[in-house]
Amino acid sequence: MGTSNTTKVLLEMRGITKRFPGVIANEDVDFDVRNGEVHTLLGENGAGKSTLMKIVFGLYQADEGEVLLRGEPIDIRSPSEAIAARIGMVHQHFMLVPPLTVAENVALGLSSSRRPFTDLAKVSTRISEISDAHGLAVDPSTEVWRLSVGERQRVEIIKALYRDAELLVLDEPTAVLTPQEVDDLFVILRRMVDDGRGLIFISHKLHEVMALSDRITVLRDGRVAGSTTPAEATRESLARMMVGREVRLTPHKGKVTVGDARLSIRNLTVIGDRGTPAVKNLSLDVLGGEILGIAGVSGNGQREFAEAVAGLRHTEPGGTITMDGADITTSSTRVRRNLGLAYVPEERMRDGVVAEFSVSENLVLVNHGSREFTKRGLLATGAIRRRSTEMVKQFAVKTPTIDTPIASLSGGNIQKVVMARELSASPGVLLACQPTRGVDIGSAEYIHSRLIEQRERGAATLVVSEDLDEILGLADRIAVMYEGEIVAIIDSADAKREEIGLLMAGVLET
Ligand SMILES: Nc1ncnc2c1ncn2[C@@H]1O[C@H](COP(=O)(O)OP(=O)(O)O)[C@@H](O)[C@H]1O
Ligand SMILES: [Mg+2]
Repeated sequence: MGTSNTTKVLLEMRGITKRFPGVIANEDVDFDVRNGEVHTLLGENGAGKSTLMKIVFGLYQADEGEVLLRGEPIDIRSPSEAIAARIGMVHQHFMLVPPLTVAENVALGLSSSRRPFTDLAKVSTRISEISDAHGLAVDPSTEVWRLSVGERQRVEIIKALYRDAELLVLDEPTAVLTPQEVDDLFVILRRMVDDGRGLIFISHKLHEVMALSDRITVLRDGRVAGSTTPAEATRESLARMMVGREVRLTPHKGKVTVGDARLSIRNLTVIGDRGTPAVKNLSLDVLGGEILGIAGVSGNGQREFAEAVAGLRHTEPGGTITMDGADITTSSTRVRRNLGLAYVPEERMRDGVVAEFSVSENLVLVNHGSREFTKRGLLATGAIRRRSTEMVKQFAVKTPTIDTPIASLSGGNIQKVVMARELSASPGVLLACQPTRGVDIGSAEYIHSRLIEQRERGAATLVVSEDLDEILGLADRIAVMYEGEIVAIIDSADAKREEIGLLMAGVLET
């Protein structure tokens, strides 16, 4: 559409305040989006991004302030009013019905679909037109449960476009995507704003924000901490706005002389939940004093590999796992632990903590993978209380007391509890899976510095992460895992983001 559209203010929010009991989620927020631009809303978990957008979409009503759409004040009281006003929202958790087809999902909620016989053929034709026009490839007749996460997201976008959205809100759309899917999505989104639409992109991933945005507004504790553009900002300046202090995004690593292999894996094959090999004849050494990063898109065997090393998953005959010379292939989690293996699992609530227990009990009593805390209650002595208090302080765990149930802490603080417990054992081998997933930038910085300390202590550290920035910042060597195999091991000094991205997607072979 013409340039005449591209300078108009599509949406304007003025002085928005939204309170929840005990929390001010948004405080005096000004925010606007023009036609033809991507305006990113950036902020830590809990900063108030989703709340502000739910106000736009009619899911919440603001306590104070006003919303103008196309220059006119508007009071959006429900999502159907938002849709009627040509506002579309793709939520972080998709709202699709898996047993229904793409066309049926798109038709759901359309006024015509209230009639008993919706013309699905017509809906399908229109979907195909939208797919073609926007590069959103998807088959209208496929049932949603058969689609990949990336394809489901495309269906959500098609749904919004089908309803002719002029303003589109995407809440953390890249959280579930592979690096290649992110690239594809950005091309599609860029084309949509070039057509004159306005787009609000919510994210906390700094390099994505820098790549996609025309403007960036940072929320911190519900207030606008600043507005900028990718040309004026750096990742560091954005992080500073998000957190309110200097943040070191690239951890500082001193020189360390690496030693011998402390963890040796040979010909490891692990069967996954589907009964097929998830890890295929994998061999790998992790040396004392190094951080080896395992990069990969989730679902390529990383989880099964980690569980096998931790002793939570059975391995096939022929493969071996050796730690400091001891064969632990079939050892229990307890034996591995006693030999000096520490494990920070990906599923923290399931495998890392006992949800019904307190912070203190989780810090001191719980061993991963085993629920061997038989003397619970009897052991809650002064020594344990002192020790947990110290660990809470040392790891800056935000908790009201050490007796608070672990489940009531934020994800980042639960992660710090798990880290504190695992690192306090001074492990010889540390296996940390997705160590900062769901963790705010400030805590991530802290966790990274503790991981680097392990390296300086001479531990062999294995970090499994889907966050390429994290791997690039931490690892001395990077192993890329694809379909159950290590397809490349790269010295991090020589590592290029694009190359690793392609290896992760199985596009590039070495
Ligand atoms: N429905 C709700 N009831 C009570 N508190 C809420 C509700 N929704 C959000 N909050 C609180 O408001 C704050 C902002 O949350 P949110 O907008 O979800 O942040 P973000 O999307 O930036 O992570 C948080 O402290 C959150 O706990
Ligand atoms: Mg949110």
